[in-house]
Amino acid sequence: MHAPMPSVVISRFVIHQSSSQWNHNRFADDVRLGLTAKPKSLPPKYFYDALGSQLFEAICLLPEYYLTRAETEIFERHAAEIVAQMPGSASIVELGSGSSIKTRLLIEAILARQTELYYQPIDISETILEQSASKLLGDYQNLHITAHISDYTNGLSSIARRDGERVLVLFLGSNIGNYTPDEARQLLGQIRGALRGGDGLLLGADLKKSSAIIEPAYNDALGVTAAFNLNLLLRINRELDADFDPARFEHRAIYQEKEGRVEIHLVSRATQSVRINKIGLQIEFDEGEIIHTENSYKYDLAQLYALAEERGFRPQRTWFDSEKRFSCNFWLAI
Ligand code: AVJ
Repeated sequence: MHAPMPSVVISRFVIHQSSSQWNHNRFADDVRLGLTAKPKSLPPKYFYDALGSQLFEAICLLPEYYLTRAETEIFERHAAEIVAQMPGSASIVELGSGSSIKTRLLIEAILARQTELYYQPIDISETILEQSASKLLGDYQNLHITAHISDYTNGLSSIARRDGERVLVLFLGSNIGNYTPDEARQLLGQIRGALRGGDGLLLGADLKKSSAIIEPAYNDALGVTAAFNLNLLLRINRELDADFDPARFEHRAIYQEKEGRVEIHLVSRATQSVRINKIGLQIEFDEGEIIHTENSYKYDLAQLYALAEERGFRPQRTWFDSEKRFSCNFWLAI
């Protein structure tokens, strides 16, 4: 009996960390900036430390959080048709790949058309990238992975292209929802800038609908989303030696229909002050004062088409789940 040669596995996996992330403690800077602003805020990308990434995976299993199930249903029904939008051989780049579980359906559909696949996941969480890559490499012998530990902007600037192959960028799960309309326009411009004519973008976007469906998705009965939100304070405690008491903050999610977004807040339950020792900062909270931790924008088709056209894409096809809650949009770079 021979053990499989480890060199074979290693050669199919490369992981990169962008220099701007190890040079400098951006987290400390962004915490200082956000908590000294009015109103107080924190960027949602910091939810995803090792624990936060796992809490998000748990959110995706909640009965109230329909987004992941809806998108999975679309891929289960239409993966072959989706990947057929790209003629010829393609490689995949994924922004915010997380566990890559839904992506498996697309990987399998592509591997049914070509013998090898190059996959470049970009994610802010090193632990989830390593875990998901090792599972994928074990399950798909013809898969090659170059992973980027990075936010979207830095990750996009470091993607590699193989000769004669088109690139399909995946931006799934309504990750675009964290961006304001202006930021979304800018990010789609960056994505387009990393692409060539004939490449594709698959954009998963949650749709506008009644707050009776949206709000419970962000305020589940079990309190997992509350834990996900409060973990941001515990991360500040862990990494910046702060003394947030999570029991003195409350999770809140409100769908603002006019703006078409869910606003996610942490609300101070009392007048209190918090020390963040590593950055020598003391923060005062009034009772009821909020930290704005996330926006989750919802889209309609007219908005999506306008965005595509403005940024140099042709919206080719849209697929929906059976309840028409969620959309998957294939845009061709022109
Ligand atoms: C990962 C940004 C798509 O907005 O639905 C889930 C994050 N926040 N529950 C979303 C999230 C609270 C999620 N995105």
